[in-house]
Amino acid sequence: MLKVGLIGFGSIAKGAHMGAYRRIKSENGPVVVEAICDINPARLEGLEGYRLYTSVEEMLEKEQGKLDYVDICVPTYLHAELSIKAMEAGFNVLCEKPMARNVEQCQQMIDASKRTGKLLMTAFCNRFFGAAQYIRDLIKSGELGAVRNAEFSRIQDSAPTANPWFLDGELSGGAALDLHIHDVDMINWMFGIPKSVNTVGKSSLTKGGYDSLSTNFLYDDNVFVHAYCDWTTLKCKYNVRTIAVYFEKGYVFVDRSAGREAFVKVTNDGEVTDMTDKLKFEAYYGEVMYYTDCLINGKPVSECLPENTIHSVRMVQAEIESADKGGQVVNL
Ligand SMILES: NC(=O)c1ccc[n+]([C@@H]2O[C@H](COP(=O)([O-])OP(=O)(O)OC[C@H]3O[C@@H](n4cnc5c(N)ncnc54)[C@H](O)[C@@H]3O)[C@@H](O)[C@H]2O)c1
Repeated sequence: MLKVGLIGFGSIAKGAHMGAYRRIKSENGPVVVEAICDINPARLEGLEGYRLYTSVEEMLEKEQGKLDYVDICVPTYLHAELSIKAMEAGFNVLCEKPMARNVEQCQQMIDASKRTGKLLMTAFCNRFFGAAQYIRDLIKSGELGAVRNAEFSRIQDSAPTANPWFLDGELSGGAALDLHIHDVDMINWMFGIPKSVNTVGKSSLTKGGYDSLSTNFLYDDNVFVHAYCDWTTLKCKYNVRTIAVYFEKGYVFVDRSAGREAFVKVTNDGEVTDMTDKLKFEAYYGEVMYYTDCLINGKPVSECLPENTIHSVRMVQAEIESADKGGQVVNL
Protein backbone atom coordinates (compact mmCIF):
# COMPACT_ATOMS: atom_id res chain seq x y z
CA MET A 1 0.00 0.00 0.00
CA LEU A 2 1.46 3.38 -1.05
CA LYS A 3 1.34 6.36 1.29
CA VAL A 4 0.81 9.89 0.04
CA GLY A 5 1.07 13.37 1.54
CA LEU A 6 -0.89 16.27 0.10
CA ILE A 7 0.81 19.68 -0.14
CA GLY A 8 -1.67 22.55 -0.52
CA PHE A 9 -5.15 21.87 0.78
CA GLY A 10 -7.29 24.39 -1.11
CA SER A 11 -10.19 23.81 -3.44
CA ILE A 12 -8.77 21.17 -5.79
CA ALA A 13 -7.07 19.14 -3.04
CA LYS A 14 -10.05 19.18 -0.69
CA GLY A 15 -12.56 18.37 -3.41
CA ALA A 16 -11.29 16.40 -6.39
CA HIS A 17 -8.09 14.86 -4.98
CA MET A 18 -9.51 13.85 -1.61
CA GLY A 19 -12.59 12.52 -3.43
CA ALA A 20 -10.34 10.29 -5.53
CA TYR A 21 -8.32 9.09 -2.51
CA ARG A 22 -11.51 8.39 -0.51
CA ARG A 23 -12.86 6.28 -3.35
CA ILE A 24 -9.55 4.40 -3.66
CA LYS A 25 -9.56 3.73 0.07
CA SER A 26 -13.14 2.44 -0.06
CA GLU A 27 -12.07 0.04 -2.83
CA ASN A 28 -8.98 -1.11 -0.85
CA GLY A 29 -6.98 0.46 -3.66
CA PRO A 30 -3.23 1.06 -3.89
CA VAL A 31 -2.81 4.31 -1.93
CA VAL A 32 -3.84 5.99 1.29
CA VAL A 33 -3.47 9.64 2.45
CA GLU A 34 -1.31 9.88 5.58
CA ALA A 35 -0.17 13.52 5.77
CA ILE A 36 -1.49 16.92 4.72
CA CYS A 37 0.31 20.28 4.61
CA ASP A 38 -1.08 23.76 4.05
CA ILE A 39 0.61 27.03 4.92
CA ASN A 40 -2.78 28.34 6.04
CA PRO A 41 -3.77 26.55 9.30
CA ALA A 42 -7.45 27.38 8.70
CA ARG A 43 -7.36 24.98 5.74
CA LEU A 44 -6.43 22.11 8.06
CA GLU A 45 -9.18 22.71 10.61
CA GLY A 46 -11.42 19.72 11.27
CA LEU A 47 -9.03 17.20 9.67
CA GLU A 48 -8.53 14.05 11.72
CA GLY A 49 -6.47 10.92 11.19
CA TYR A 50 -3.65 12.59 9.25
CA ARG A 51 -0.25 13.98 10.23
CA LEU A 52 -0.74 17.73 9.69
CA TYR A 53 1.83 20.40 8.80
CA THR A 54 1.87 24.12 8.05
CA SER A 55 5.42 24.07 6.64
CA VAL A 56 6.52 22.07 3.60
CA GLU A 57 10.12 21.95 4.86
CA GLU A 58 9.01 20.43 8.17
CA MET A 59 6.80 17.92 6.39
CA LEU A 60 9.57 16.83 4.02
CA GLU A 61 11.93 16.39 6.95
CA LYS A 62 9.57 14.55 9.29
CA GLU A 63 8.02 12.36 6.59
CA GLN A 64 11.36 10.90 5.43
CA GLY A 65 10.82 7.19 4.78
CA LYS A 66 7.11 7.43 5.62
CA LEU A 67 5.60 8.59 2.30
CA ASP A 68 5.94 7.14 -1.19
CA TYR A 69 5.00 10.38 -2.94
CA VAL A 70 3.61 13.85 -2.44
CA ASP A 71 0.61 15.22 -4.32
CA ILE A 72 1.20 18.95 -4.87
CA CYS A 73 -1.87 21.20 -5.11
CA VAL A 74 -0.43 24.65 -4.36
CA PRO A 75 -0.92 27.72 -6.59
CA THR A 76 0.73 27.49 -10.00
CA TYR A 77 3.63 29.85 -9.25
CA LEU A 78 4.86 27.38 -6.57
CA HIS A 79 4.62 24.16 -8.61
CA ALA A 80 8.27 24.12 -9.72
CA GLU A 81 9.79 25.32 -6.44
CA LEU A 82 7.94 22.81 -4.25
CA SER A 83 8.15 19.90 -6.70
CA ILE A 84 11.92 20.32 -6.96
CA LYS A 85 12.25 20.68 -3.19
CA ALA A 86 10.25 17.48 -2.68
CA MET A 87 12.23 15.48 -5.26
CA GLU A 88 15.53 16.72 -3.81
CA ALA A 89 14.29 15.55 -0.39
CA GLY A 90 13.66 12.07 -1.84
CA PHE A 91 9.92 12.10 -2.66
CA ASN A 92 8.19 11.16 -5.90
CA VAL A 93 5.86 13.93 -7.11
CA LEU A 94 2.41 14.12 -8.64
CA CYS A 95 1.84 17.85 -9.24
CA GLU A 96 -1.33 19.63 -10.36
CA LYS A 97 -1.56 21.27 -13.76
CA PRO A 98 -0.28 23.49 -15.32
CA MET A 99 3.14 21.89 -15.08
CA ALA A 100 4.65 25.22 -13.95
CA ARG A 101 4.42 28.97 -14.50
CA ASN A 102 6.76 28.93 -17.52
CA VAL A 103 8.85 26.64 -19.74
CA GLU A 104 12.10 27.34 -17.86
CA GLN A 105 10.54 26.15 -14.60
CA CYS A 106 9.14 23.04 -16.35
CA GLN A 107 12.64 22.22 -17.60
CA GLN A 108 14.05 22.65 -14.08
CA MET A 109 11.45 20.12 -12.85
CA ILE A 110 12.44 17.64 -15.56
CA ASP A 111 16.12 18.11 -14.71
CA ALA A 112 15.40 17.56 -11.00
CA SER A 113 13.45 14.38 -11.77
CA LYS A 114 16.38 13.03 -13.84
CA ARG A 115 18.95 14.08 -11.24
CA THR A 116 17.11 12.51 -8.31
CA GLY A 117 15.54 9.55 -10.12
CA LYS A 118 12.14 10.50 -8.66
CA LEU A 119 8.94 9.93 -10.66
CA LEU A 120 7.34 13.24 -11.70
CA MET A 121 3.92 13.53 -13.34
CA THR A 122 1.71 16.55 -14.05
CA ALA A 123 -1.88 15.85 -13.01
CA PHE A 124 -3.51 16.68 -16.36
CA CYS A 125 -6.84 15.13 -15.44
CA ASN A 126 -8.32 15.33 -18.95
CA ARG A 127 -5.79 12.78 -20.22
CA PHE A 128 -7.68 10.33 -17.97
CA PHE A 129 -11.19 11.35 -19.12
CA GLY A 130 -12.86 8.42 -20.92
CA ALA A 131 -14.28 10.51 -23.78
CA ALA A 132 -10.92 12.19 -24.45
CA GLN A 133 -9.18 8.80 -24.42
CA TYR A 134 -11.76 7.46 -26.88
CA ILE A 135 -11.14 10.38 -29.25
CA ARG A 136 -7.38 9.98 -29.00
CA ASP A 137 -7.67 6.26 -29.82
CA LEU A 138 -9.99 7.10 -32.74
CA ILE A 139 -7.41 9.51 -34.16
CA LYS A 140 -4.68 6.86 -33.81
CA SER A 141 -6.75 4.03 -35.30
CA GLY A 142 -7.77 5.96 -38.42
CA GLU A 143 -11.28 4.42 -38.21
CA LEU A 144 -12.84 7.68 -39.49
CA GLY A 145 -9.89 8.57 -41.73
CA ALA A 146 -7.56 11.50 -41.22
CA VAL A 147 -8.43 14.48 -39.04
CA ARG A 148 -9.63 17.53 -40.98
CA ASN A 149 -10.16 20.06 -38.19
CA ALA A 150 -11.18 20.27 -34.54
CA GLU A 151 -12.69 22.71 -32.10
CA PHE A 152 -12.54 23.01 -28.30
CA SER A 153 -14.33 25.43 -25.97
CA ARG A 154 -14.15 25.94 -22.22
CA ILE A 155 -16.10 28.72 -20.56
CA GLN A 156 -16.77 29.18 -16.88
CA ASP A 157 -17.15 31.90 -14.30
CA SER A 158 -14.19 30.84 -12.16
CA ALA A 159 -12.06 33.97 -12.10
CA PRO A 160 -14.19 36.35 -10.04
CA THR A 161 -15.03 33.72 -7.43
CA ALA A 162 -11.63 32.01 -7.10
CA ASN A 163 -8.81 32.90 -4.73
CA PRO A 164 -7.14 36.25 -5.53
CA TRP A 165 -3.92 34.76 -6.93
CA PHE A 166 -5.87 33.48 -9.96
CA LEU A 167 -6.54 37.07 -11.07
CA ASP A 168 -2.86 38.03 -10.93
CA GLY A 169 -1.44 37.06 -14.32
CA GLU A 170 2.09 37.00 -12.91
CA LEU A 171 1.09 34.26 -10.45
CA SER A 172 -1.47 32.22 -12.39
CA GLY A 173 -0.73 32.94 -16.06
CA GLY A 174 -4.35 34.10 -16.39
CA ALA A 175 -7.10 32.09 -18.07
CA ALA A 176 -4.58 30.97 -20.72
CA LEU A 177 -2.33 28.98 -18.40
CA ASP A 178 -4.95 28.07 -15.82
CA LEU A 179 -8.19 27.14 -17.61
CA HIS A 180 -7.47 27.04 -21.34
CA ILE A 181 -4.41 24.81 -20.78
CA HIS A 182 -6.77 21.86 -20.17
CA ASP A 183 -7.73 22.09 -23.86
CA VAL A 184 -4.22 23.01 -25.01
CA ASP A 185 -2.86 19.92 -23.29
CA MET A 186 -5.53 17.70 -24.90
CA ILE A 187 -4.62 19.27 -28.27
CA ASN A 188 -0.92 18.55 -27.63
CA TRP A 189 -1.78 14.99 -26.54
CA MET A 190 -4.21 14.22 -29.39
CA PHE A 191 -2.68 16.08 -32.35
CA GLY A 192 0.92 16.84 -31.32
CA ILE A 193 2.76 20.14 -31.29
CA PRO A 194 1.38 22.57 -33.90
CA LYS A 195 3.70 24.32 -36.31
CA SER A 196 2.22 27.73 -35.44
CA VAL A 197 -0.45 29.52 -33.42
CA ASN A 198 -2.34 32.73 -33.77
CA THR A 199 -4.38 34.09 -30.90
CA VAL A 200 -6.57 37.04 -30.02
CA GLY A 201 -7.25 37.74 -26.38
CA LYS A 202 -8.89 40.24 -24.11
CA SER A 203 -8.83 41.11 -20.49
CA SER A 204 -10.87 43.10 -18.01
CA LEU A 205 -10.43 41.25 -14.71
CA THR A 206 -7.03 39.53 -14.79
CA LYS A 207 -4.14 41.87 -13.99
CA GLY A 208 -1.34 41.20 -16.49
CA GLY A 209 -3.07 38.23 -18.12
CA TYR A 210 -5.94 37.33 -20.44
CA ASP A 211 -9.52 36.49 -19.39
CA SER A 212 -10.54 35.25 -22.81
CA LEU A 213 -8.69 33.77 -25.79
CA SER A 214 -9.42 32.46 -29.25
CA THR A 215 -6.60 30.47 -30.90
CA ASN A 216 -5.98 28.70 -34.17
CA PHE A 217 -3.36 25.95 -33.94
CA LEU A 218 -2.03 25.15 -37.41
CA TYR A 219 -0.65 21.72 -38.36
CA ASP A 220 0.82 20.23 -41.53
CA ASP A 221 -1.60 19.45 -44.40
CA ASN A 222 -3.60 22.58 -43.41
CA VAL A 223 -5.25 20.81 -40.46
CA PHE A 224 -6.28 23.46 -37.95
CA VAL A 225 -7.64 23.25 -34.44
CA HIS A 226 -9.55 26.11 -32.88
CA ALA A 227 -9.83 26.62 -29.11
CA TYR A 228 -11.85 29.23 -27.24
CA CYS A 229 -11.72 29.96 -23.54
CA ASP A 230 -13.25 32.53 -21.19
CA TRP A 231 -13.29 32.59 -17.41
CA THR A 232 -15.43 35.67 -16.87
CA THR A 233 -18.40 35.39 -19.21
CA LEU A 234 -20.84 33.01 -17.57
CA LYS A 235 -22.74 34.38 -14.61
CA CYS A 236 -24.46 31.14 -13.73
CA LYS A 237 -23.45 27.78 -12.33
CA TYR A 238 -23.37 26.03 -15.71
CA ASN A 239 -20.04 25.70 -17.53
CA VAL A 240 -19.55 25.22 -21.26
CA ARG A 241 -17.20 22.41 -22.36
CA THR A 242 -17.19 21.11 -25.90
CA ILE A 243 -14.88 19.05 -28.10
CA ALA A 244 -15.57 18.43 -31.79
CA VAL A 245 -13.18 16.53 -34.04
CA TYR A 246 -13.97 16.37 -37.76
CA PHE A 247 -12.51 13.49 -39.76
CA GLU A 248 -12.66 12.55 -43.45
CA LYS A 249 -15.43 9.99 -42.75
CA GLY A 250 -17.39 11.56 -39.89
CA TYR A 251 -17.06 13.41 -36.62
CA VAL A 252 -17.27 13.10 -32.84
CA PHE A 253 -18.85 15.69 -30.58
CA VAL A 254 -18.64 16.00 -26.79
CA ASP A 255 -20.88 18.47 -25.01
CA ARG A 256 -20.79 18.96 -21.25
CA SER A 257 -22.61 22.28 -21.08
CA ALA A 258 -25.57 23.77 -19.23
CA GLY A 259 -25.78 20.72 -16.98
CA ARG A 260 -26.39 18.39 -19.93
CA GLU A 261 -24.10 15.75 -21.37
CA ALA A 262 -23.77 14.26 -24.82
CA PHE A 263 -21.11 12.34 -26.71
CA VAL A 264 -21.85 11.13 -30.23
CA LYS A 265 -19.98 9.63 -33.12
CA VAL A 266 -21.51 10.40 -36.52
CA THR A 267 -20.36 8.85 -39.79
CA ASN A 268 -20.74 10.43 -43.22
CA ASP A 269 -23.39 7.84 -44.15
CA GLY A 270 -25.53 9.05 -41.22
CA GLU A 271 -24.90 6.40 -38.59
CA VAL A 272 -25.08 7.95 -35.10
CA THR A 273 -23.52 6.17 -32.11
CA ASP A 274 -24.46 7.50 -28.68
CA MET A 275 -21.43 7.23 -26.37
CA THR A 276 -22.72 9.31 -23.47
CA ASP A 277 -21.80 6.46 -21.11
CA LYS A 278 -18.12 7.40 -21.64
CA LEU A 279 -18.71 10.87 -20.15
CA LYS A 280 -18.65 9.89 -16.49
CA PHE A 281 -15.87 12.20 -15.30
CA GLU A 282 -13.58 9.99 -13.20
CA ALA A 283 -10.44 11.71 -14.37
CA TYR A 284 -8.96 12.59 -10.95
CA TYR A 285 -9.42 8.98 -9.82
CA GLY A 286 -7.94 7.84 -13.14
CA GLU A 287 -4.85 10.02 -12.86
CA VAL A 288 -4.07 8.82 -9.31
CA MET A 289 -4.63 5.17 -10.25
CA TYR A 290 -2.37 5.59 -13.28
CA TYR A 291 0.40 7.37 -11.36
CA THR A 292 0.37 4.83 -8.50
CA ASP A 293 0.44 1.94 -10.98
CA CYS A 294 3.54 3.44 -12.62
CA LEU A 295 5.14 3.93 -9.20
CA ILE A 296 4.38 0.39 -8.00
CA ASN A 297 5.52 -1.26 -11.21
CA GLY A 298 8.52 0.99 -11.91
CA LYS A 299 7.05 2.20 -15.22
CA PRO A 300 7.53 5.61 -16.86
CA VAL A 301 4.44 7.84 -16.89
CA SER A 302 4.15 7.38 -20.67
CA GLU A 303 0.59 8.79 -20.86
CA CYS A 304 1.68 12.07 -19.27
CA LEU A 305 5.44 12.45 -19.61
CA PRO A 306 6.93 15.70 -18.27
CA GLU A 307 8.97 15.86 -21.50
CA ASN A 308 5.61 16.13 -23.29
CA THR A 309 3.56 18.27 -20.86
CA ILE A 310 6.26 20.98 -21.02
CA HIS A 311 5.08 21.57 -24.61
CA SER A 312 1.57 22.47 -23.41
CA VAL A 313 3.13 25.34 -21.44
CA ARG A 314 5.23 26.23 -24.50
CA MET A 315 2.08 26.34 -26.65
CA VAL A 316 0.33 28.63 -24.14
CA GLN A 317 3.36 30.94 -24.04
CA ALA A 318 3.28 31.14 -27.86
CA GLU A 319 -0.44 31.99 -27.70
CA ILE A 320 0.19 34.79 -25.20
CA GLU A 321 2.99 36.13 -27.40
CA SER A 322 0.64 36.08 -30.40
CA ALA A 323 -2.18 37.79 -28.47
CA ASP A 324 0.28 40.42 -27.19
CA LYS A 325 1.17 41.10 -30.85
CA GLY A 326 -2.47 41.52 -31.86
CA GLY A 327 -2.93 38.05 -33.35
CA GLN A 328 0.36 37.68 -35.25
CA VAL A 329 1.31 34.13 -36.22
CA VAL A 330 3.92 32.67 -33.83
CA ASN A 331 5.89 29.61 -34.96
CA LEU A 332 6.68 26.79 -32.56
N1 LIG B 1 -7.05 19.76 -12.52
C1 LIG B 1 -8.01 20.65 -12.35
O1 LIG B 1 -9.10 20.50 -12.86
C2 LIG B 1 -7.74 21.85 -11.47
C3 LIG B 1 -8.82 22.57 -10.96
C4 LIG B 1 -8.55 23.64 -10.11
C5 LIG B 1 -7.24 24.00 -9.82
N2 LIG B 1 -6.21 23.29 -10.37
C6 LIG B 1 -4.82 23.69 -10.11
O2 LIG B 1 -4.49 23.34 -8.77
C7 LIG B 1 -3.65 24.33 -8.19
C8 LIG B 1 -4.31 24.83 -6.91
O3 LIG B 1 -5.56 25.40 -7.22
P1 LIG B 1 -6.69 25.63 -6.09
O4 LIG B 1 -7.91 26.05 -6.82
O5 LIG B 1 -6.77 24.46 -5.21
O6 LIG B 1 -6.05 26.87 -5.34
P2 LIG B 1 -6.35 27.32 -3.84
O7 LIG B 1 -5.81 28.71 -3.74
O8 LIG B 1 -7.76 27.06 -3.49
O9 LIG B 1 -5.46 26.32 -2.97
C9 LIG B 1 -4.07 26.40 -2.88
C10 LIG B 1 -3.69 26.03 -1.45
O10 LIG B 1 -2.26 26.01 -1.37
C11 LIG B 1 -1.90 26.56 -0.10
N3 LIG B 1 -0.51 27.02 -0.15
C12 LIG B 1 -0.01 28.15 -0.72
N4 LIG B 1 1.32 28.21 -0.54
C13 LIG B 1 1.67 27.10 0.13
C14 LIG B 1 2.90 26.61 0.61
N5 LIG B 1 4.06 27.27 0.42
N6 LIG B 1 2.90 25.46 1.30
C15 LIG B 1 1.76 24.77 1.53
N7 LIG B 1 0.55 25.19 1.09
C16 LIG B 1 0.51 26.34 0.40
C17 LIG B 1 -2.90 27.69 0.11
O11 LIG B 1 -2.99 28.07 1.48
C18 LIG B 1 -4.18 27.05 -0.41
O12 LIG B 1 -4.90 26.37 0.60
C19 LIG B 1 -3.47 25.41 -9.25
O13 LIG B 1 -2.25 25.27 -9.90
C20 LIG B 1 -4.60 25.19 -10.22
O14 LIG B 1 -4.30 25.56 -11.55
C21 LIG B 1 -6.45 22.21 -11.16
